[in-house]
Amino acid sequence: MAIILDGKSLREKILTELKARLEKYDKKPTLVVILVGDNPASKIYVNNKKKTAENLGINSIIINYPADISEKVLLEKIQELNEDDQVTAILVQLPLPKHINKFKVINAISPQKDVDGFTPENAGKLFTGEKPYVYPCTPKGIIRLLDEYKIPIEEQHAVIVGRSNIVGKPLAQMLLQRNATVTICHSRTKNLSDITKTADILVSAVGGKIIGKNMIKPNCVVIDVGIFKDENGKTRGDVNFEEVSPLASYISPVPGGVGPMTIAMLMSNTVELFEKNHL
Ligand code: GUN
Repeated sequence: MAIILDGKSLREKILTELKARLEKYDKKPTLVVILVGDNPASKIYVNNKKKTAENLGINSIIINYPADISEKVLLEKIQELNEDDQVTAILVQLPLPKHINKFKVINAISPQKDVDGFTPENAGKLFTGEKPYVYPCTPKGIIRLLDEYKIPIEEQHAVIVGRSNIVGKPLAQMLLQRNATVTICHSRTKNLSDITKTADILVSAVGGKIIGKNMIKPNCVVIDVGIFKDENGKTRGDVNFEEVSPLASYISPVPGGVGPMTIAMLMSNTVELFEKNHL
């Protein structure tokens, strides 16, 4: 039976450390989160971020624009936040409505305030191996979780299902830097299970795709980044937990695995940017 990768407990440990770190300073970081529209999932994430930040002594401001806000207004607001010395971290919640060019919006964020590590400067540095200001939150949280349980990464075959800019692509770079052999699979991958069965570490980040017991190698490490509500309203991930957990060596549950780690890493990135640029 697999050992559960307990992201919830690790989040608490990390937040306690961050709180103690912040108590040493006479200034506080300010994280501004921009939310466009009223996507219910995004609203929950954003409110969670705010609550967690405030518990740590981080100022947190949510700017909620209606879905039909113009790109121009959004870009002007980001410029204003870039120039505001009180603001130490900026996050634009994704996805954005279709009429807004997400690349333009992300490009507008100052790399020193880019708490997601999504700007071309930070993403480019991650790609070339130069240190970015911060690493993207979900991949960073996954690696922190593996490290906490002393799961080896070097020389392991990591298979990532999902090629998003938020998870799949940056995680692949970070695992490469740790000397894993990395394969990225996606919706057009042929014979997916032939590949996933060769994984020592299998990460699924597609949302709703079920990874079953016939897709994994016995004793592999399974990381589930998916999250959605099933037809009974139960929160589920990409992995069929009941089926896979008896075969895996380690498995991250949903909820309580990667999700809490993402929030913890957002707080960690907020503190890092504050320490680097605002003390
Ligand atoms: N939407 C889903 N995950 C994320 C994330 O990590 N950052 C941002 N900005 N939006 C998201």
